[in-house]
Amino acid sequence: MANLLDIKIDSLCFPGTGEPVLKNINLPVAAGEFIVLAGPSGAGKSVLLSCLAGVIPLYKKARLHGAIQYRGQSITRLPELAGKIGLVTDNPQNQLFCTTVEEDLAFGPCSMLLPPEDVRRRIKDALDFVFLPGYQPRKPETLSGGEMQRVVLASVLAMNPEILLLDRPADQLDPKGRKEIYQRLHRLSKVQGKTIIVIEETWEDVMPLADRFWGLNQGNLVYDLPNTKTVTISSLREKWGPVKGMPKTGPKAVPVQEYRSDALPALEVRDLYLRYENGGFALHNLTLNICPGEFVALMGENGAGKTTLTKTFNGLLRPQKGSVTVNGLDTQQHTTAQLSLHLGYLFQNPLMQVCCNSVEEEIAFALKVKKYPKDQIAAIVKKTIQEFGLEQAASLHPYRLSRGMLQKAALASVLVANPGILVVDEPTSNMSYEEARDALEIIDRYNKKGTTVIMITHHLKFALEFCRRFLVMKNGGLILDTDTGSLAHHQEIFADLGFALPEISGRGGNKHETALGL
Ligand SMILES: Nc1ncnc2c1ncn2[C@@H]1O[C@H](COP(=O)(O)OP(=O)(O)OP(=O)(O)O)[C@@H](O)[C@H]1O
Ligand SMILES: [Mg+2]
Repeated sequence: MANLLDIKIDSLCFPGTGEPVLKNINLPVAAGEFIVLAGPSGAGKSVLLSCLAGVIPLYKKARLHGAIQYRGQSITRLPELAGKIGLVTDNPQNQLFCTTVEEDLAFGPCSMLLPPEDVRRRIKDALDFVFLPGYQPRKPETLSGGEMQRVVLASVLAMNPEILLLDRPADQLDPKGRKEIYQRLHRLSKVQGKTIIVIEETWEDVMPLADRFWGLNQGNLVYDLPNTKTVTISSLREKWGPVKGMPKTGPKAVPVQEYRSDALPALEVRDLYLRYENGGFALHNLTLNICPGEFVALMGENGAGKTTLTKTFNGLLRPQKGSVTVNGLDTQQHTTAQLSLHLGYLFQNPLMQVCCNSVEEEIAFALKVKKYPKDQIAAIVKKTIQEFGLEQAASLHPYRLSRGMLQKAALASVLVANPGILVVDEPTSNMSYEEARDALEIIDRYNKKGTTVIMITHHLKFALEFCRRFLVMKNGGLILDTDTGSLAHHQEIFADLGFALPEISGRGGNKHETALGL
């Protein structure tokens, strides 16, 4: 019997580039396999998924030598495969284009001409699957980052495809949500025979579930292993070489900083209440102070209100009650443009802040706003591009960058102006481990030079390594405000979030080996 998929790629090149992005890949895939695809940044993982979905070369020009067959037929000849193969890309917001969640989920099943009652049932089942029951009437632009990623997965599931190709589908999910969704996907593969190929950076959630592991490096398949238990970071090092910055020990408690109590707070939030137009409070009764020079982690489950809170810091959202002051300035009395001179903001979705035609121009933009002398701008931009390792991307349009690279370019465009306060909303999402570490080390350097940092993150171990204070939100309120050294007293809050707190010491070892080294 023919395989479900037969992948044979001798070479794949994009126009204008000599070196193939993928080469010598030969992979048969059987129905019902759950496959994890991993590899260092730029290895060609997303390109391979796009080839399997037929997006390359059907919709994105490339020279493909070889053939990819679905049940013995070339996938490039089968446009009707849309219903058989579902792709979740690493840019979830690009996959939602309707005015309500219901319309977005209906789009696929309606184009398959299913009767309305079947479409409605599929939408309900898909939203239940991703733990968002009743979200049909929501406008996509009002969803939190994690909710949006869940809806995109639901929109693909609503088509009931035979093969699911998932590019970091849980990157913005809280850890509990990640585990739950991966468990459910695993059940889909085992009970309904769905074939799942997933790119995932944090292995501890997926490796125990996978039947097979593919490792890519520089476009070559370096691993095709049936038994995932044999795959460890140490074994990968042999093929991939040393992974830059991989921690050799467990997380250490960063010493608690002393802050001058008489210094003007960098941020002061008093009795904050904020209600969105469509209903309940997104923030309630929130009070906190952040001192100059702090490095604070802001954590909490999807929809807890983290992004909403930080958007009140630069006036993007105006609370109905309470106050926020930034360096002593009342945010209600100042425009976002005025506040941006004090506070740099990296959006959860970096596409939201792109406004120029090249990475260079994007980075220069903040300097122009701050009225830097023209002759200094070029030199500062050049230095920043080097600092962030963006040389290859400098002249490209930001939309042409991979999601991780775009995240880095957006961060560079915020940090270049040396903001006194920096808010970064999930700055490492869609980054490989090495990219994430590089980005966090750069942020850390700015913090050591005096920048106050508030980082929203779902990565506990990165937070443990860089942050000295932890804020945890739930249902729009603050449920924890503590320094790193006292975290052990709050095990239950972290357990509720889906984290097991690791031993925090100078000598602790990592219990789990993962692609993130976490
Ligand atoms: N413009 C809006 N209109 C209505 N509701 C909104 C709007 N923006 C956000 N919400 C809702 O407010 C709640 C808090 O959203 P927020 O984006 O602050 O969550 P979050 O903690 O950042 O979550 P995530 O980890 O998923 O990014 C969510 O339930 C979200 O659906
Ligand atoms: Mg958010």
